Amino acid sequence: MPVVRHKTEFLEMEGHGRCEVLVVPKLSSVVEHQHYTKGSFTHPAKMSTMLCRELIRRYTKPGELMLDPMAGISATQIEAALLGRNAIGVELEKKFVDISRRNIKRLDGLKTPKGRAEIVKGDARSLSKLLRERADVAVFSPPFGDAEHHS
Ligand SMILES: C[S@@+](CC[C@H](N)C(=O)[O-])C[C@H]1O[C@@H](n2cnc3c(N)ncnc32)[C@H](O)[C@@H]1O
Repeated sequence: MPVVRHKTEFLEMEGHGRCEVLVVPKLSSVVEHQHYTKGSFTHPAKMSTMLCRELIRRYTKPGELMLDPMAGISATQIEAALLGRNAIGVELEKKFVDISRRNIKRLDGLKTPKGRAEIVKGDARSLSKLLRERADVAVFSPPFGDAEHHS
């Protein structure tokens, strides 16, 4: 993965002061998606892998355990593992859990040092029942709109 520079800009938000905005560079999809199975991009609200990577790099340390309680196709876990963090994801929808498992399996083939990645099928509203360990940090993008869930 190439080293990519992210720019930080600031926006004045009326009544809310200054807001930090991270500007994510656009890479070719071949580079950005190189660690993901083809079916991954059928997810309707997948996070930019470059954004995941930069958030994890900024806000977590190598060796820490990161949680994504609404993991989708596990982009946060994959990027975290590639940065030497350990990561666990929880996802409600079976079809996204299946894609996540395939993406996580692909990490086995990599020679570079990496953290551990895991996906658990379940509802983020019951995290304490689903997780055996306590995470150091959570990185996620919540669902939006009126998506219906068919678990
Ligand atoms: C905005 S997407 C996250 C995308 C993810 N960051 C990625 O890049 O693949 C939100 C995800 O939350 C899942 N979700 C919604 N409600 C949930 C719940 N109660 N527990 C776990 N996952 C949930 C949805 O199925 C969807 O995949």
